[in-house]
Amino acid sequence: MMSEAKLEALLTESRAFPPSAEFAAQANAQPSIYDEADADPEAWWRKQAGRLTWDTAPTKTLEWDLPFAKWFSDGRLNASVNCVDRHVAAGRGDKVAYHWVADKEGESRTITYRQLLGMVCQATNALVELGVKEGDRVAIYMPMIPEAVVAMLAVARLGAVHSVVFAGFSAEALSSRILDSDCQYVITADGAYRRGTASPLKPAVDEALQSCPNVKAVLVVQRTGGDVNWIEGRDYWWHDVVDRQSEQHVPKSFPSEQTLLIMYTSGTTAKPKGIFHTTGGYLVQAATTHYYVFDVKAETDVCWTAADIGWITGHSYIVYGPLVNGVTQVMYEGLPDSGGRDRWWKIIDEFKVTILYTAPTTIRTLMKWGPELPDSHDLSSLRLLGTVGEPINPEAWMWYRRHVGGERCPIVDTWWQTETGAILASPLPGITATKPGAAMRALPGISLDVVDNEAQSVGNGEGGYLVVTKPWPAMTRGIYGDPERFKQTYWTRFPGLYFAGDGAKRDADGDLWLLGRVDDVMNISGHRLSTTEVEHALVGHPAVAEAAVVGASDETTGQAIVAFVTLKLSAEEATKDQAPLIHELREHVARTISPIARPRQIILTPDLPKTRSGKIMRRLLRDVAENRSLGDVTTLTDPTVVNMISQLMTTTPSGEE
Ligand code: PRX
Repeated sequence: MMSEAKLEALLTESRAFPPSAEFAAQANAQPSIYDEADADPEAWWRKQAGRLTWDTAPTKTLEWDLPFAKWFSDGRLNASVNCVDRHVAAGRGDKVAYHWVADKEGESRTITYRQLLGMVCQATNALVELGVKEGDRVAIYMPMIPEAVVAMLAVARLGAVHSVVFAGFSAEALSSRILDSDCQYVITADGAYRRGTASPLKPAVDEALQSCPNVKAVLVVQRTGGDVNWIEGRDYWWHDVVDRQSEQHVPKSFPSEQTLLIMYTSGTTAKPKGIFHTTGGYLVQAATTHYYVFDVKAETDVCWTAADIGWITGHSYIVYGPLVNGVTQVMYEGLPDSGGRDRWWKIIDEFKVTILYTAPTTIRTLMKWGPELPDSHDLSSLRLLGTVGEPINPEAWMWYRRHVGGERCPIVDTWWQTETGAILASPLPGITATKPGAAMRALPGISLDVVDNEAQSVGNGEGGYLVVTKPWPAMTRGIYGDPERFKQTYWTRFPGLYFAGDGAKRDADGDLWLLGRVDDVMNISGHRLSTTEVEHALVGHPAVAEAAVVGASDETTGQAIVAFVTLKLSAEEATKDQAPLIHELREHVARTISPIARPRQIILTPDLPKTRSGKIMRRLLRDVAENRSLGDVTTLTDPTVVNMISQLMTTTPSGEE
């Protein structure tokens, strides 16, 4: 039986919420900007480049040698100056840049733009002392503390490249990322707080660096005060090296196409891709999208992007976009339930947050905790809500609108990727209608299409593959050190078009709906993981012979990992109680990649369904994992295998989390 809520959700799916008149009256965006950008996209972006402070203003806009783009290439600028110095120089130094809110209730720090500038200059001077130079790569592996932002801006200020690695990743994942881009410096912390408990971070760095001989220095913020292992001559405390530095630093300017950042993301192979972004185009689009999509008013808004700086959302909408626009933000260290399940609502009320941006998976978790919690707090400061990272189900969208947005806040469902650098599709508040679960349309200056297998545009009411048809300023400039893989991955499926890897449909009105990945990339709680990466981790365990991993739909996390595993054990060993081994395998994956990669379910099976040419039939396994009827199984070497696996699926329990 369909629940009432689900039924309502389905009914609202076809419902559009017209732009609110209140928003329209004061909106940053006006309907004419779509036409203006359509008429001449390059001229549109050239105009947006005026949001930045350039030391040398660009005269060039786009140079396009498919698939390699250059934007504003003869311009020169400094990213850190654009985020901080210029606001102080313009007399806005006393404006709050961040209200940093600790995991522990009651602990917070308020940092003005002037203070942020002092902190960034001190950190820059410290990095110079440690030997960091223009073009060097610096890994940042930190919890959500202000020093993480300071570290990013200090690296950028020197024209060096930051590679932020999510602090939830394992030592192995960290070392492979450090090695791939040959980072010679690491900035980290002794530990992090999670629901009041300190968990160490430095041991993972120490372990990772055993296989990274090129790392010269590790700068460590003391966050938790626990015991740490220390290597003299390599490790430096932040408070010893940074705090004694001058708060002045005279910045240089760098070419627009100077690499600013590398962000690793999962593709369809076991090896994550080092997506890199350059300075000018990335900053222009991060700031422009932040301005229009979130309708920010620098003087009055308080923006809270509830994401981690270890992901691209944190880069573009906690650090670069909002700082370039000079707004006040909330930055939160903890989990949604650190200090209680109403923690978020307390934060919104206390800091009078006006714009909230988060992932559907978090909304679904908050939803599970009940509407009484948001309903019993004053959330009237909110005026706009956003979502990102995965398709949002209409039920969650409606809950967000009703219980968080008080039926008055527009919701922007923003579609983009690590590779796109900034938002490409979203409604514009005050202009575009919204529909529960639809990203609606491409932003001004962006050309998207939905195409069929032959690269032909589909009609209204039809589905296909999402592609980007024209270059955009914040597009990745490639995969670090692997231009061939960049071409192969994104530009060969539909020659001349950027293939995002997402399925999409146009509804009867021509509005855009994202339908999820069409490749072997899974989306677990908005985190991207490849099936091969998890399979690789599983077969790295001595007991495992073969593994096949699929992403199965999950009510809370969007997708969840289901792994089908054959063992190397003897028949006698294999028939013993398998629960401890399954537990061990789940933990093994969590240790090898990250706890976010821990499979929900592991099914131990004597065999996997294979085609006669020996390929594992993942499609069938996905059907099994999602309890769907199985299609054609005649191409299998042994069709009985899938029936057996279906049986096992129903008798194997899911993981605790
Ligand atoms: O599948 C799409 C999904 O997230 C993927 C990009 O993941 P990542 O690079 O980690 O960046 C996430 C944050 C920008 C996309 O290929 N995705 C992202 N936003 C949406 C989405 N799916 C549906 N709707 C969205 N709004």
